[in-house]
Amino acid sequence: MTSLVQWVHLVAAVVGVGGMAFVLAILLPSARVLREEHRNLLLKTVMGRFRLASWSAITLLLASGLYSIRLRAWEAPWGPYWKWLTVKIVLAFCVFTITLLLTLPLQALDRFRSRREMWLAIALGVALVVILISAYLRGF
Ligand code: HEM
Repeated sequence: MTSLVQWVHLVAAVVGVGGMAFVLAILLPSARVLREEHRNLLLKTVMGRFRLASWSAITLLLASGLYSIRLRAWEAPWGPYWKWLTVKIVLAFCVFTITLLLTLPLQALDRFRSRREMWLAIALGVALVVILISAYLRGF
């Protein structure tokens, strides 16, 4: 069971972070070759699918992460392990918030989305720090 939950956590992290990297490094620059109307249509379709993938990844990361805390961290005393885990969870929530703001189908968020590339780059950078902290946590 533990391995299955770890697997779910890792797969969700790979799909979520990999998806962000793909959109940022490959899709958005490539879409610039299209005329504006075609580019907007493509990005609208992609964002619909990205929403499904990223919301699923967030749900699975939260469920498997909470389960792992119950399994691995609950008994650990307050100290460096818990401090780094707390930093990791706060940063993960920053990534989730940016992802939700970029993908929620609300017109009020269009201004935020007009700087989509910048916010995606920030979310990706923070997610990479989250993975670094996760690797460090394994050592405890
Ligand atoms: C951007 C979001 C996240 C990413 C990319 C991420 C990534 C990872 C990775 C790569 C691992 C190592 C897996 C392993 O060693 O088996 C891990 C472990 C873990 N994650 Fe996450 N995670 C995220 C969010 C969360 C959240 C929201 C929670 C808690 C609610 C959480 C709790 C944990 C716990 C408890 C571990 C085990 C740490 C240990 O080795 O003691 N993660 N995470």
